Amino acid sequence: MLRKILKWTGGIIATLIAGAAIFYFVMRTQVNNRRDKTYDVQVRMLDIPSDSATMADGAHIYATKGCADCHGDNGGGNFFLEDPMVGTLSGTNLTRGKGGRPAGYGDREWLLALRHGLNAHNKPLVIMPSYEYYQMSDHDIASLVAYLKSMPPVDHEVPAPALGPLGTILSGLDKLPLIPAEKIDHAFKSPARVEKAVSPAYGQYLSMSCTGCHKPGLKGGESPIPGGTPVRDITTAGNLGKWSMPEFMAVMRTGKTPDGRQMKNEDMPWKMTSKYTDDELQALYLYLKTL
Ligand code: HEC
Ligand code: HEC
Repeated sequence: MLRKILKWTGGIIATLIAGAAIFYFVMRTQVNNRRDKTYDVQVRMLDIPSDSATMADGAHIYATKGCADCHGDNGGGNFFLEDPMVGTLSGTNLTRGKGGRPAGYGDREWLLALRHGLNAHNKPLVIMPSYEYYQMSDHDIASLVAYLKSMPPVDHEVPAPALGPLGTILSGLDKLPLIPAEKIDHAFKSPARVEKAVSPAYGQYLSMSCTGCHKPGLKGGESPIPGGTPVRDITTAGNLGKWSMPEFMAVMRTGKTPDGRQMKNEDMPWKMTSKYTDDELQALYLYLKTL
């Protein structure tokens, strides 16, 4: 009798292990095929200016769009996730230094990355959140590229992003935003310029940087990072509905809410939002108040 039970459970365990192995294999094949896809896109070229006002605009965009969190303040590349199960992910060295962008990396390659989420061979970049950037105006993208090109070289070798087993499965199940190119409208025609103004319309333009985590309707939900802190509702249905403009600005600058809750920068990137100008934060507030 005992023997029979042991045989049985042994059989069940073996079946489960085989099932898990097949599931993992299917996920890995699916993810690899998606990563290997070549995208046929039309890159609309832009004039990249090099005057100091444009550079300053570009530096501000770099600091306020999260680039520094993944690529480092100096553009030399930075680990933002080191987890044996999920993966080791680091932003590339964007400078001309050792380990940085190759010779011949030109305006077309910058635009492929920022507007299409693709590398120089038209294959998808992983995790690089280009779906938050591709709608930026031509003027803003050109300023950003002008600044990126001007960054002093940093010698820093960074390994290519590598997914762990859990990262592969989560990507296969679409629980990890692995391939931004899949979420981009590659035929989108960005406006030439969006004028800076303290207006809900400009706030909506800036809120592109919030949608990756707070979701397109800004109602929040599950964290984009597996197991991460849930993302809050920042429409008027959430706490924002109760906050005055100065209170909202203080939250964005310090990560501390009026009721005294200190948010972690790793959850809500307030070190980034603290660099927004007063006008930008006011515009964001005016827009969020309409939701
Ligand atoms: C969440 C982290 C993250 C953020 C935020 C981020 N990047 Fe990236 N970026 C990456 C990763 C990871 C890669 C490498 C992807 C790969 O090799 O498949 C990458 C790749 C790139 C590339 C392509 C390099 C190449 O080899 O072709 C450029 C250009 C780039 N990022 C610029 C930026 C700029 C500019 C910003 C801000 C507007 C930004 N990134 C924001 C993670 C990030
Ligand atoms: C990397 C993901 C991420 C990005 C990008 C992000 N947020 Fe958040 N945000 C969060 C998370 C997670 C929380 C909840 C943190 C907590 O509860 O401690 C949060 C909380 C907040 C809160 C506090 C809400 C409350 O009810 O306490 C505000 C306000 C906020 N975010 C505004 C913004 C705005 C505006 C942007 C865009 C400029 C933005 N966030 C971009 C992840 C993000």
